[in-house]
Amino acid sequence: MVTQGNKKQQKSAGRSEAGSSESVVRTGAAAHPAVDETRTRAVPTPRMVNMTVNGRPCSLQVEPNWTLRDVLRQKLGLTSVKDFCNGYGACGSCTVIMDGRPALSCMALAADCGGVVIETAEGIADARHPLIEAYIMNWTAQCGYCTPGFLVTAKALLDHNPNPTVEEIKEALGGNLCRCGTYPAHVKAIREAAQVLRGEK
Ligand code: FES
Ligand code: FES
Repeated sequence: MVTQGNKKQQKSAGRSEAGSSESVVRTGAAAHPAVDETRTRAVPTPRMVNMTVNGRPCSLQVEPNWTLRDVLRQKLGLTSVKDFCNGYGACGSCTVIMDGRPALSCMALAADCGGVVIETAEGIADARHPLIEAYIMNWTAQCGYCTPGFLVTAKALLDHNPNPTVEEIKEALGGNLCRCGTYPAHVKAIREAAQVLRGEK
């Protein structure tokens, strides 16, 4: 039997009756039962990462929020790795070759890159790849900001396809943007470099 006194007690405990079922009004932390205040969040900590960059082994301590692009540019001084789109993955200027494939370094967390093999435009230039000469001779750069990303993508293409068609080159370069309109020069340079690599020039 519910007495007046009992009702007062229930109200003061934040309880009220709704039909035959009991509803409970909670306030504060108790209003969010999913939040367990006894648990603490794990704080992300720096991590040691080993990778090979342009043929050299590197060991780096990286923060959890650093991108691969941050590390290549700011920690290893590889300034060919650009940022044309504020790291939105939209321009291709930060492209590197990662384990043999072109990859956007602004989209990869450095902490996830343990054991990878990275190649940048610096490494391609040091190796005197025929693309370098072909890019110079065909005036592929105007402002030049996007050029390393194109070059790296072109190298990855030629590594897998020594005789690409114009269409295959255009498709491979689809993620690289140049506001100066140098696209035809890239196609020409890549075809010339491919001829050199095949020993036809
Ligand atoms: S900086 Fe533009 S795609 Fe990475
Ligand atoms: S050469 Fe100017 S953006 Fe590509």
